[in-house]
Amino acid sequence: MFTLKIDKIIKHSDSISTLFFNSRLKSYPGQFIMLNLPEYEEIPLSLSSSASVTVKAVGETTKALIRIKAGERVGIRGPFGKPFSFTDKRALLIAGGIGVAPLFYLYDYLSDRGAEVEVLYGAKTSEELVWKDKFESAEFTTEDGSEGFKGTVLDLVKQKDLSEFDRIYVCGPEGMLKEALNLLKKLNLLERSEFSLERYMRCGIGLCGSCVLDDGSRVCADGPVFNGKDLDGLI
Ligand SMILES: Cc1cc2nc3c(=O)[nH]c(=O)nc-3n(C[C@H](O)[C@H](O)[C@H](O)COP(=O)(O)OP(=O)(O)OC[C@H]3O[C@@H](n4cnc5c(N)ncnc54)[C@H](O)[C@@H]3O)c2cc1C
Ligand code: FES
Repeated sequence: MFTLKIDKIIKHSDSISTLFFNSRLKSYPGQFIMLNLPEYEEIPLSLSSSASVTVKAVGETTKALIRIKAGERVGIRGPFGKPFSFTDKRALLIAGGIGVAPLFYLYDYLSDRGAEVEVLYGAKTSEELVWKDKFESAEFTTEDGSEGFKGTVLDLVKQKDLSEFDRIYVCGPEGMLKEALNLLKKLNLLERSEFSLERYMRCGIGLCGSCVLDDGSRVCADGPVFNGKDLDGLI
């Protein structure tokens, strides 16, 4: 483990912040770190750039992270896990809630390397749609209709011609991933799709077994990014 200083914080809402480290991590979009805040549990967080994480406060550790001040230090193991694959053609990013975090990194990475990237990003309310100006080409949805299209992000996805995209990247809550997987299967597009999964993690390096899927894959080491065809029947 090594430590990094928190250099800068962007507070997107009462419960969501992006914390920037004082140093970049050699990493690829889709990878995660195990972050250690003294006196709290170590938790997995996706990198939202090579030098940041974007955190939503849900329990003790994430609530403490949201309260952290610039200048404080955190412990880090990683980066770990399998990243998203690369395309320089047309890419669609589908984000639900805080699932947008790794897609911020992927968006910059693909755009910088010549891909044409479109984003469909949904949340429950407009308050939970964060850092929207980061995307040049994006459409937003909210379940309460407070911003953009009223409905879930998948309601909007269903209106698009998905066959136009070389790669479709999906990240969000488990129910959304399952629905997206079924939709892409029906459209015969599973092979072009990649999903980032979350499971309870302890070691982060494939040893403890706490993140294992039914087929024996370890989300920390064989994922967290999986091709859609490898997840059929697993989520
Ligand atoms: C690979 C990976 C990447 C992740 N990336 C991010 C990220 O970029 N930003 C972010 O905010 N969070 C991310 N998470 C989720 C984050 O790790 C959990 O929110 C965190 O561990 C919760 O810790 P806590 O002590 O605050 O809450 P706890 O007290 O542990 O839990 C509070 C509540 O959150 C639920 N919860 C805990 N862990 C998860 C989880 N993994 N998925 C869904 N619900 C959970 C619990 O069931 C409980 O209801 C990621 C998880 C994984 C596995
Ligand atoms: S977290 Fe230990 S095997 Fe995945």
